[in-house]
Amino acid sequence: MSLLVCENIVKEFGGEENRIAVLKGVSLSLEKGEAATILGSSGAGKSTLLNIIGALDPPSSGKVYLDGEDLYALNDRKISALRNRKLGFVFQLYHLMAELTALENVLLPARIMGHEDAKARARAKELLCAVGLKDREKHFPAQLSGGEQQRAAIARSLINSPELLLADEPTGNLDRKNSENITELLVKLQKEMGFAMLFVTHNRELSSLGRTLVLQDGTLSEAGGKDNLTTPKI
Ligand SMILES: Nc1ncnc2c1ncn2[C@@H]1O[C@H](COP(=O)(O)OP(=O)(O)O)[C@@H](O)[C@H]1O
Ligand SMILES: [Mg+2]
Repeated sequence: MSLLVCENIVKEFGGEENRIAVLKGVSLSLEKGEAATILGSSGAGKSTLLNIIGALDPPSSGKVYLDGEDLYALNDRKISALRNRKLGFVFQLYHLMAELTALENVLLPARIMGHEDAKARARAKELLCAVGLKDREKHFPAQLSGGEQQRAAIARSLINSPELLLADEPTGNLDRKNSENITELLVKLQKEMGFAMLFVTHNRELSSLGRTLVLQDGTLSEAGGKDNLTTPKI
């Protein structure tokens, strides 16, 4: 069974006067432990799709199945529980809590789950080490560079051992060198830890991560697939 299946996702915004269809029938499946890049220009609907997959915003129509479970058929409490247990998120803006240290930020999702015990602390330290922030545990976000803040955010996204990591333009705020380093780090962690990952970017140079899918004109297709023989204009 696939970890993630999206069936004919449609997402419209606006009312009768100004309705726009951002996603016009997106289908996708991702296996356990598989990585894919979703490439699309600004405004293509990448964040909209990731928010739907991430159980943050329901589609106008279509289905999302996570581990065979029809996501939006669940009640809100079950959706939140599933989000906390199975999904990890990394965003362009790191969204670290300014008043918490790097270690406390990484521990936050475990605390929300009620698991802030010695085991979680040890795991948080291990993750900070894995992302190259071993000596930065006690630093606050303002004391870290952009690349370091994103590393802390990546460690935080992995503390509850997600099955699927959703990374929405995680390098969008970083210079070229840091972008490459963060991308390489995500690839390394994904291989080592075996979670599945959807990596969203508008930067074609970063699209070497797993399968490449192109989001264009509200539909998603495999890059180089028969639907997409021409190079997308991005
Ligand atoms: N909540 C919303 N209400 C109205 N329009 C929205 C909303 N969210 C996104 N959009 C529109 O949907 C389109 C896709 O946005 P988005 O998914 O953020 O694109 P991307 O992440 O690819 O840059 C844009 O035209 C945006 O203005
Ligand atoms: Mg976006």
